[in-house]
Order: sequence, then structure tokens, then C-alpha cells
Amino acid sequence: MSDHRDAPDDARPGLAAHEVHDAVGGLPAFRRLVGSFYAKVERDEVLRPMYPDDLEPGKDHLARFLAQYWGGGDVYSADRGHPRLRLRHAPFSITPEAAGRWAELMTAAVHEQTDWPAAARDHLLAYVRTATPTLINQLPADARTLPRQDDASPTGPDTGSAT
Ligand code: HEM
Repeated sequence: MSDHRDAPDDARPGLAAHEVHDAVGGLPAFRRLVGSFYAKVERDEVLRPMYPDDLEPGKDHLARFLAQYWGGGDVYSADRGHPRLRLRHAPFSITPEAAGRWAELMTAAVHEQTDWPAAARDHLLAYVRTATPTLINQLPADARTLPRQDDASPTGPDTGSAT
């Protein structure tokens, strides 16, 4: 494993998603990833206020979720049940900005896992890119006034001057 790191052409398509957990070293490896991520959250002015005072339970849940997602068995669901991520994130106001920040910090945390095979990092990076936008549940603060349906002209909404 040690000589795979950081070679640009080392994103081996051969590493299946369910093999990532074992390839990185199991739950302890996801705990290290989540530790790197939360260290950034703690210093982040957008995300920190959304998280509770005690960050430890959330760290444990996220590490277990990721371990399960990447092939580590039901280490999340055994305690927490079905992930239902949209539902669990509903209490938080996740704007595109906040989601973008989350993705940015998690991407940086993944890059810090230099002892992981590059193919495993690539799996995580692709997941962060595609999954994070699905948790947006709030328009940006400056986009609250969308045209109402009955404001649309008969020829369609694109003919007006709205930007
Ligand atoms: C790929 C994207 C994401 C994944 C996989 C993810 C996953 C999770 C998981 C598994 C939990 C714990 C659920 C539980 O209680 O069992 C959680 C909690 C949380 N997530 Fe996310 N999340 C993502 C994106 C985001 C984004 C974009 C935000 C905000 C911008 C966010 C904010 C939070 C907060 C505030 C908590 C509660 C933490 C706590 O109670 O300590 N998450 N997330």
C-alpha cells in the first residue's frame, strides 16, 4: 500500500466501492478522516454555528456512516437505523454556500489521508462532489424572491427580464 500514494495515474478503477473500507484500514481510518474534517469545521465561521457544542457524537456517527457506506458492514445502522440523510439534515439550513463549504473541507480532509490508496481517495472525492449537493435544502439568502407561477408570461418564463 505504501508505494501507491500520490502517483497521479494511480486511480485504479479496479478498487470497487465496497472494497474501500478494507483498503484504507477500516473504521479507524474513517475516524482519522472525520477528525481531519472536524478540525476544519471547528475553525469555520459558516459551518461551526450549525453544529452542536459537543462535536463528539456527530464525529462518531459520520465515521460509522462512511465506514458502512464503503463496505464496512452495518456499523452505522446497527445503532442509528437507516441513514435517511435528507431527513436527518432537515433541521439544518443547508444553503448552496454551506454545502459548498462542507464539500470543500471534506475534500481537503480526504487529500490529507496520504496513506490511503489514491483510488480510495478518488472514490471519496467523487462521492463528496455528487452527494453534497443532494443535501441542499435552502435557497441562498439572496434568492428568496423567485417569480411566482402566475407571473409567468404566456410565452414562458424566459422571455422576461428576470435574471
Ligand atoms: C456527502 C455529504 C454529507 C454526508 C454523507 C453527511 C453525513 C452525515 C451524517 C451521517 C450525520 C450523522 C447523522 C446521525 O445523527 O446519525 C450528519 C450530521 C450532520 N451533518 Fe451531515 N453530511 C453531509 C453533508 C452535510 C452538509 C452539506 C452539512 C451542512 C452544511 C451537514 C451538516 C451536518 C450537521 C450540522 C450534522 C449534525 C451533527 C451533530 O449532531 O453532531 N452535513 N451528517
